[in-house]
Amino acid sequence: MVVMTGAGVSAESGVPTFRASDGLWEGHPIEEVATPEGFAADPIKVWRFYEGRRENLLRVAPNPGHHVIAAWQERFSSLMLVTQNVDGLHQRAGSRDVMELHGSIWQIRCSQCHRERVDRTAPMAKLPPICEVCGGLERPGVVWFGEILPQDTLNAAARAAVKADVTLVAGTSAVVYPAAGLVELAANSGAALIEVNPVASALASLATVALRGPSGEVLPALDRLLGFPS
Ligand code: OAD
Repeated sequence: MVVMTGAGVSAESGVPTFRASDGLWEGHPIEEVATPEGFAADPIKVWRFYEGRRENLLRVAPNPGHHVIAAWQERFSSLMLVTQNVDGLHQRAGSRDVMELHGSIWQIRCSQCHRERVDRTAPMAKLPPICEVCGGLERPGVVWFGEILPQDTLNAAARAAVKADVTLVAGTSAVVYPAAGLVELAANSGAALIEVNPVASALASLATVALRGPSGEVLPALDRLLGFPS
């Protein structure tokens, strides 16, 4: 089984999604805050956007949807968890080996020497952060538009998608590629597709089953129906 998640699984934790009418891309044009060109033009503006998100994330907690996925992963060692989320909430719920297609907001990378470090403090003492090793400008360790995804992670996720009997896709509009392509790959390779989303995503027509509702309610309900002994 492959579970693939997007921003919607964190919505009930109090994390805004991207494409809702009050979503993150509404007040923050993508080209300004989520592209290498935007960062080159105004690194402090970009950092302020990510600092706001990091500060919010320090105040929120994983929700029942994250917890059910983590419990399933404990029960089924072959369950692969692939996420487009950079918020780290799956890990905080206890999930391990999370394939983070779009990187992590807690990872910081030097744009010059590419040194990576983990930093879970927000706000930072000084913006923009500067690399202690080479003096270069540090950037958020997330994937921006126009950049390639971490290839090892993408390849591992593609291998899992091809092998999957069942793929559960939760909380994504499925409009961003190559992530959405993994859902198509799984379906074309014969996996049954379960979509968990209050509304139909761009790939809803591929779904074998659509469970319409918030993942923080639908996933616990599904878990209860499966009736695993605790
Ligand atoms: P979107 O904002 O595009 O879509 C969020 C989806 O979650 C929508 O389909 C909502 O209907 C659904 N949703 C909302 N509340 C939900 C809930 N409580 N339970 C379940 N589903 C809910 O976010 P993503 O699909 O994750 O990439 O966006 C994909 C990528 O686009 C992101 O990783 C980000 C963004 O640009 C980068 O920044 C590279």
